[in-house]
Amino acid sequence: MREDRSLGLPHTHLAQVVSTNDVLRELAENDAPEGACVTADLQTAGRGRFGRRWTSDTACNLLLSVLLRPRIEPGSVGVLSLLSALAVAETIEDVAFLRATVKWPNDVLIRGRKCCGILLESSWSEGTDAPPEYVIVGIGLNVNQDRFDSEFSGQATSLLLETGQPIERQAVLDALMDRLSERYRSLVAADADAVRSEYLKRLEGLGREVDLRHAHAGPVFSGVIETVTPSGGLVVRLRDGSLKTFVAGEVTTRNAAAHDATYHDTDDLRD
Ligand code: BTN
Repeated sequence: MREDRSLGLPHTHLAQVVSTNDVLRELAENDAPEGACVTADLQTAGRGRFGRRWTSDTACNLLLSVLLRPRIEPGSVGVLSLLSALAVAETIEDVAFLRATVKWPNDVLIRGRKCCGILLESSWSEGTDAPPEYVIVGIGLNVNQDRFDSEFSGQATSLLLETGQPIERQAVLDALMDRLSERYRSLVAADADAVRSEYLKRLEGLGREVDLRHAHAGPVFSGVIETVTPSGGLVVRLRDGSLKTFVAGEVTTRNAAAHDATYHDTDDLRD
C-alpha cells in the first residue's frame, strides 16, 4: 500500500449485500469520511447504469463502492466518471499487464470486451449550486470469473479470461485504491486536465464515427467523437456538421458492434 493512498479506508467487507452502493450510502448518511469503502462477495441486486442489473459470480470479482466528498462544481461531477474509468484501466495494466481502454463515459474494456462497469450515485443538497454532499463510486471489476451468461458471451471478459491466471482480489483492490487516490488527488489539486488527456489516450472511438443512443424510443445520433470536455461531456461532430455535447448516454462504436449489442439503455439521454 502506498503511503499517500487516501481512498479505501475505512474498509468494510461483507459476504452478501443487496448493493455495495446502498451499504455505503447508509454509511455516508451517518457521516462516514471521504475514502470509506465497502466491498462484498455477492450482491443480490447489484445495479448497473440505466437501471440495468449487474451480476457477478460469488467471491470472484471486485464489487466495491468508494465514498467521495468532492468540493467541485455541480457541473463537474461527470469528470469523476472519467477519473474512475481511467484509474481502473491503469490498475488492469499494473496487475495484469494488459492494455485497457475506456468507452465513454466509464466502461473499461480489454480487447473490446467489457471487464468493468462503474455506477456513480450522488447526493445533492436541494436548491443550491453547492458541491454534492457526496458521490458514491460503485465499481464492478471482473477479476476471476471464468464464464459469463450467454446474454453477455463475446461481450464481457475478466482478468482471468484475458491472462489465463487467477489474480488475488485483494491485490487488485490495493492497486485500484492507489490509482484512484492518485488521480483523485490530482483532480482536487485542480489538475483535471491530466485526467482528461490520459483518458483521451484510451478512449474507444476517438476520431471515428459512432452512434449515441437514447434510452427509450428516440433519436440515435451518429457522428465522430472529437473530444471530452473538462467536465466529462462527450463532444461529437454530427453528420450535419454541428457539434453536440452529450453529458450522459451510451456509445456504440461501429467496429465493436458485437460487444455493444446487448448493453441497452433504459434511461434518458440528457444532452
Ligand atoms: C454498468 O456498467 O452498468 C455499471 C455497473 C456497476 C456495478 C457496480 S458493482 C458495485 C457497485 N454496486 C452496485 O450495485 N453497482 C456497482
